[in-house]
Amino acid sequence: MSGAGAFLERHFSLAGKTALVTGASGGIGRVLALALAQAGAVVAIHGRSERRLRESATLIDDAGGRSLSLTAELGDVVACRELVARAHRELGRLDVLVNNAGMNRRTPIEAVTQDDFDTIMAANLRSAFFLSQAAHPLMRDGGGGKIIHVGSVTSSYGLGGVSAYGLSKSALAHLTKTMAVEWARDGIAVNCLAPGFMLTPLTEAPIWGDEARRTWLLGRIPARRPGRSEELVGALLLFASSSSSYLTGQTLYVDGGFLAGGWWSDG
Ligand SMILES: NC(=O)c1ccc[n+]([C@@H]2O[C@H](COP(=O)([O-])OP(=O)(O)OC[C@H]3O[C@@H](n4cnc5c(N)ncnc54)[C@H](O)[C@@H]3O)[C@@H](O)[C@H]2O)c1
Repeated sequence: MSGAGAFLERHFSLAGKTALVTGASGGIGRVLALALAQAGAVVAIHGRSERRLRESATLIDDAGGRSLSLTAELGDVVACRELVARAHRELGRLDVLVNNAGMNRRTPIEAVTQDDFDTIMAANLRSAFFLSQAAHPLMRDGGGGKIIHVGSVTSSYGLGGVSAYGLSKSALAHLTKTMAVEWARDGIAVNCLAPGFMLTPLTEAPIWGDEARRTWLLGRIPARRPGRSEELVGALLLFASSSSSYLTGQTLYVDGGFLAGGWWSDG
């Protein structure tokens, strides 16, 4: 192996590691799971649709990786605990947990129902809390681990029309800090990967297919385009690998400069 290859191998390889990625049947999760597998990890891919999970598993197989497919409804705390236990039992250990599963219902605050609020919180926040709680003793007893929550620009930016979603994602950024504080002594790093406005099945029609939103976003994002899921892989591998051995409690925005600021007018 070349000097550069050995260097990258030492800092970023996940060979011998295992990972669980929730929502790996979806746009971003599928790409994150594939990246972890390509970096050498055996990956438990979670989803709700067996058909879509099979597509993710085939992508990983075709790339020479190894995966295990697991289904669960993460609105149910018992199912969250069972998912982590199954992944650990079948993979033999758990080194990396990516809490990617999430959903959104875009409505103004006055129209948010209790069901909207509870469903969003359960999927985006409560699941990440209890999946991580279940992973903690397994990672601690296995010598440490990496937990990566998937946030959003709404982890810190107050975007109208997504109040409950933004609340769940900003709470994830806070949870990142408290979990990092409590579990650092157990060798577990907790960080939050916060994508900007990406082009995925979740956003294709409601955001990029809506002329007004599209026009506003393209003017507002300094990079002048949506992000691609593949553009999250660098931050993911940083958080998942030994290259981030002194990095915990952080939220990293991969947003084409959106949160850096904006122009006075159309720039
Ligand atoms: N797409 C974007 O622009 C964007 C931006 C910022 C953050 N995010 C976040 O990235 C993550 C992935 O988003 P995506 O765009 O790939 O969406 P997606 O809809 O394509 O995938 C979401 C995944 O989460 C799973 N999921 C949702 N609720 C679930 C539940 N209750 N139980 C089990 N599984 C559940 C879905 O089955 C699916 O696999 C989400 O957390 C989302 O909030 C997305």
